[in-house]
Amino acid sequence: MPRDRADIRVIKERIDIISVISRYVSLKKAGASHKGKCPFHKDDTPSFVVSGEKGLWHCFGCGEGGDVIGFLMKIEKISFIDAAKRLAAEAGVEFQTKEQEGDREKLRLAMADAARHFGENLRNTKGGKRAREYLIERGYGEDVWERYGLGCALPGWDNLKRALSSQRGERQLVELGLLVEGEKGTYDRFRDRTIFSVLDLSGRPIAFGGRAFEGEPKYLNSPKTPLFDKGRTLYGLSWARDALSEGRKAVLVEGFTDVLTLHCAGLTNAVASMGTALTQGQADLLGRFVDEVVIVYDCDAAGGAAALRGMQILGNSGLAVRVARLAEGDDPDAVVRRDGADALHEALDQAVPFYRFYVEELRAQVDPSSIGGKERILAEAREFSRGIRSLPLRQAFATELSGLLDLPSEGILRELRRGRRLRPAADAVFVPKDAWTPEEDLLVMLLRGDIDWKRVSAVLAPEDFSQANRPIAQALAESEESPNISELVEGMDEESARRVSHYALAAVRFSDVDKATDDALLKLVQLPSFAKKLSELDREIAACEENKDRDRQNELTLKRVDLLMEKKLAREGMHGNEG
Ligand code: CTP
Ligand code: MN
Repeated sequence: MPRDRADIRVIKERIDIISVISRYVSLKKAGASHKGKCPFHKDDTPSFVVSGEKGLWHCFGCGEGGDVIGFLMKIEKISFIDAAKRLAAEAGVEFQTKEQEGDREKLRLAMADAARHFGENLRNTKGGKRAREYLIERGYGEDVWERYGLGCALPGWDNLKRALSSQRGERQLVELGLLVEGEKGTYDRFRDRTIFSVLDLSGRPIAFGGRAFEGEPKYLNSPKTPLFDKGRTLYGLSWARDALSEGRKAVLVEGFTDVLTLHCAGLTNAVASMGTALTQGQADLLGRFVDEVVIVYDCDAAGGAAALRGMQILGNSGLAVRVARLAEGDDPDAVVRRDGADALHEALDQAVPFYRFYVEELRAQVDPSSIGGKERILAEAREFSRGIRSLPLRQAFATELSGLLDLPSEGILRELRRGRRLRPAADAVFVPKDAWTPEEDLLVMLLRGDIDWKRVSAVLAPEDFSQANRPIAQALAESEESPNISELVEGMDEESARRVSHYALAAVRFSDVDKATDDALLKLVQLPSFAKKLSELDREIAACEENKDRDRQNELTLKRVDLLMEKKLAREGMHGNEG
């Protein structure tokens, strides 16, 4: 039985909303989404849109909408719990039985014993002297040892084994990765190392990281166990939890010492991915607490590459991602210890949206003013954008590139799309007919002379058209009753002129021009609410720019991109099936 938000989240992650809704509604792919006839009202035109990427459905006819659980509740007339249960079974989400929960509790108690053992070694044994000195030298005084679960594994092969195995049993200690099985029996995994405890959300130890005083590997970590999966754990999360929920913003660092130093310096929203590669599981975990993440990884080659991968994953999780830059060779721990917390705050304040960070990296490596340089940058960017699933993010990325390359962003977006489609297109057997939006339907009919602008101007102004088509609408509004195409394109920009010919010559047939016009107009008049929201946002963004409120400005800019995406989704999704 699903118990909390985390369970619900897992269900929604695993369930494909398209396949569930397809059992009740015949869906057709339309652009980035799917559409069909709404099952909740009498729907002649398909106005029911499902976005697999966003996990949402919406009917533009009756206004109903929500997630996959909501859909099942509504269509089957069942409760939230029943809908969630059904989908949980389907998603293979298991919920612990009492017995299993008992076993896990025993494992947790054994881990707590181990943590106590390491802590005791650090504080009270002769052999712990080296770790004591090491921690103090690094700025972690005795006062924080207990709070942050610091400890020490003594030199020797069986210190932990002797201390714990009589009470906890060897088998269990092996299962927890505390003992390793060798040829001649079991021995301690952690030997002669400073110990960092990795805690679960409620602050109980589930794994350890041991730092060597010298030699390799520098860090040795617990393996995957029933309690610990590194890919679904963030170091420091239990200590950062309150700060994260409160500020809705996280600082993501690489290592144990980064987290400790930042927390000690009052930056209590720091968590670490424990090494370089951030996983989807960690990103999802973070997404439960925050809306925004600032990545501040080590400034070395590995950290740079990891930041690139990490920001794609985070971006795909719907989080606003910014990246802060440190001086070559630095990590957050070193910056705070050497220059103080203010220095790190400064770097964090200057963090830039991740696509800008990426573009700046490119600029540093390739000269964007030469043709060859532009081509190389475009090729690189195409690779990079393959990893970005979200259309709004790809758009923001294209805008950024457009500034760098001094090329129009629409063209760049097309280039990026081209890259994404290269592979599937190579073995596609036929190319499906272009999907026309209602707006395009109207323009086709207008440009062919099937209808005239007066019919449109009764409900729409040129401003209501998408940016790309606005110049055409403008020209139509200003022209005589039945415009001559070649006159119409005079003085028009190239892109608009190309569109005009495309529409005028398109091989689309409307069985009933009157009905097609009415349908298209009806769908389009629902869009102006977007325009209003957009202009409100623009005003707010301009105000932020004036007040130099960068955080808010970035946030609003992302919102704006999202809104544009929604608008596009609406346009595409509401498209009828004439022709
Ligand atoms: N790490 C690991 N295994 C290694 C090296 C690193 O799991 N062999 C993880 C650890 O979680 C470590 C993080 O990657 O904290 C970052 O590595 P690194 O920057 O090398 O270590 P620091 O945390 O900076 O450690 P220190 O300050 O002690 O050098
Ligand atoms: Mn480091």
